Amino acid sequence: RTLQAHQQQRRGGWGYASPQHAFSRVPCRRPQGVACRVAAAEAPTQTASILNKEFVSNKEQYMALYKQSIEDPAGFWGEIAEQFHWEKKWEPNHMHYNFDVRKGPISVEWFRGATTNIAYNCLDRHVAAGHGEDVCLIWEGNDVDRDKTLTYKEALDEVCRLANWLRSVGVKKGDSVALYMPMLNELPLAMLACARIGAVHSVVFGGFSAESLAQRMEDCKAKVLLTASGVMRGPKKIDLKKIADKGLDLCAKAGHTVEHVLVYENDNAVPAVDCPFTAGRDRWWQSEVAQQSTNCPVEWVEAEHPLFLLYTSGSTGKPKGVLHTTGGYMVYAATTMRHVFHLQRGDVYWCTADCGWITGHSYLAYGPLLNGATQIVFEGVPTHPTPARCWEVVAKHRVTQFYTAPTAIRSLMGFGDQWVEQCDLSSLRILGSVGEPINPEAWRWYNQVVGKGKCPIMDTWWQTETGGHMITPLPGAWTEKPGSATLPFFGVRPAVLDEKGNELQGECEGVLAIAQPWPSTLRTVYGDHERYQSNYFGPFPGYYFTGDGCRRDADGYYWITGRVDDVINVSGHRIGTAEVESALVAHPACAEAAVVGYDHPVKGQGIYAYVTLMEGTETSKELKKELVAAVRNTIGAFAAPDVIHWAPGLPKTRSGKIMRRVLRKIASKEEDQLGDTSTLADPGVVQVLVDLRGK
Ligand code: PRX
Repeated sequence: RTLQAHQQQRRGGWGYASPQHAFSRVPCRRPQGVACRVAAAEAPTQTASILNKEFVSNKEQYMALYKQSIEDPAGFWGEIAEQFHWEKKWEPNHMHYNFDVRKGPISVEWFRGATTNIAYNCLDRHVAAGHGEDVCLIWEGNDVDRDKTLTYKEALDEVCRLANWLRSVGVKKGDSVALYMPMLNELPLAMLACARIGAVHSVVFGGFSAESLAQRMEDCKAKVLLTASGVMRGPKKIDLKKIADKGLDLCAKAGHTVEHVLVYENDNAVPAVDCPFTAGRDRWWQSEVAQQSTNCPVEWVEAEHPLFLLYTSGSTGKPKGVLHTTGGYMVYAATTMRHVFHLQRGDVYWCTADCGWITGHSYLAYGPLLNGATQIVFEGVPTHPTPARCWEVVAKHRVTQFYTAPTAIRSLMGFGDQWVEQCDLSSLRILGSVGEPINPEAWRWYNQVVGKGKCPIMDTWWQTETGGHMITPLPGAWTEKPGSATLPFFGVRPAVLDEKGNELQGECEGVLAIAQPWPSTLRTVYGDHERYQSNYFGPFPGYYFTGDGCRRDADGYYWITGRVDDVINVSGHRIGTAEVESALVAHPACAEAAVVGYDHPVKGQGIYAYVTLMEGTETSKELKKELVAAVRNTIGAFAAPDVIHWAPGLPKTRSGKIMRRVLRKIASKEEDQLGDTSTLADPGVVQVLVDLRGK
């Protein structure tokens, strides 16, 4: 990897210079192969406020500003925060925290004393500044001939109407609202409507099952559910409301009743006549919301007021409700958005993520709108009706920044270059990657075939918990290396630790932790602060533990090596092995299950499940299908195991612990590299499993 990186570096090919002056939309390109360097003597002595006017132009400038961000975080982020609307300003010493479990409960607070509203900052602020006619959202439907454009003023009116409807059914500041919707403009607008009135949104990805939806609505005690009749995903119709109804029933059985359900009629997928509807509880979105006024007073909230919950998988137990709050999240999402993508008014930005994941929160619902940009909301899939779809959308709307996941890049790369080459991609300036490590081969294809060697690639490493980019290149500011997320963003102090928690220096490899809070640090796990503390701050006291392994090279660049816990990253979706195992053992034929990840050419990682059947149960193809279906129904289709491997026994230590290392080796056909198996209670089980592979 390093060798390839260095060869690529020598050849040049992704040189790009950012505008050195005030924000400007003119892309400035450096001739290929010319290094980006400024003599140390020229290093500017600026403070953070320069970032409100300019992009970072070189590494020396970055280093100077980075130093300020680490040494004086309150001052640094205070300067940046000046550009937003605050109804009330923060206290001079506004940042308070404890990051060390040995010193007491973990707490993180930014902008103490301040009040604001993120939805106001996303919409009203731009409209008040005379940008109401700028295009805010361009919806691109699943079918090629369906699209819809909304200006900032129109978006604001929609948000106000919906916010008024939420208020009309009794939603108040601090109440939870669940969203289970397809990628329509209405989804980000609904998130903003909740924020406008201080309600806490909890978006559940539309690919989750009824059971997963129920579990989340129950955990956050959702008062209202916003959903849609259905959606087309490529050629496939999904009856979203039917799944939602099942989820509502399961939630009620678990003891929590969602009082109101607002249903958007997505008529190209499921017309109202085909959509189940419970009178009294359900209302039709289009008719109800249209009647509301566009005048909706903003709820000014404290900087630490909860903004949203987003459930994510961990290595054990049920998914955790990650809580993000208003002020710090707003400042951090907007700043990373702007500087990582050089985003500004007039740009047409496109992030392919679904709002059901953190990327769709920070870099779709909030980041672009906080920066007054125009963005695409895409309902479809990248391969429908052909593998040219993404590139056709780029050409149609003259997209300037494109942000997607390595799994999509690998999948599209597999269809061949011709689908890209038939489209005019000359509008593209910057490309982004997120969700999993990007392999150098995919990086190069993205760089050369999509970006024509002129678009820098922002390989952004971050997590649901971090709320925003943590380690990422900045366009043109330093040289990229394919596969490395490069350097930390402002305010982020990464630490590479050995297994004892010692911080390693210089070139090293270990686990990745973060040594001090950044503005969008997760504040708690909803309803379980204990779990928050033990999970993230327990393993290495004094640090936030990311769960990722990482290497730092001689240039100080970070290379994420993947999860070190029992979390699998499938197509950029985080899945806990424990969740899949418990879905499998819920099947009456399954006595025990052990799930591991294995290398998958497109998905990054695939799900490999070892299943021990109940005494006397016959193995069959049908049973495999049933077990896969059990996971689909319990979690969602994206978590379906790729392989079911019959396991009459599992490799366990004498104390009964499953040796997953052994299972991973068998899954990847590397049983010749098992290492020490002397602690196995029954070493013979390995050969039995090898013999059953593929059966
Ligand atoms: O393992 C890392 C991987 O995705 C995990 C976070 O998943 P999630 O919370 O679902 O958020 C995904 C979108 C931010 C991380 O712990 N990951 C994310 N981005 C990268 C990555 N691994 C390598 N390189 C990345 N750029």
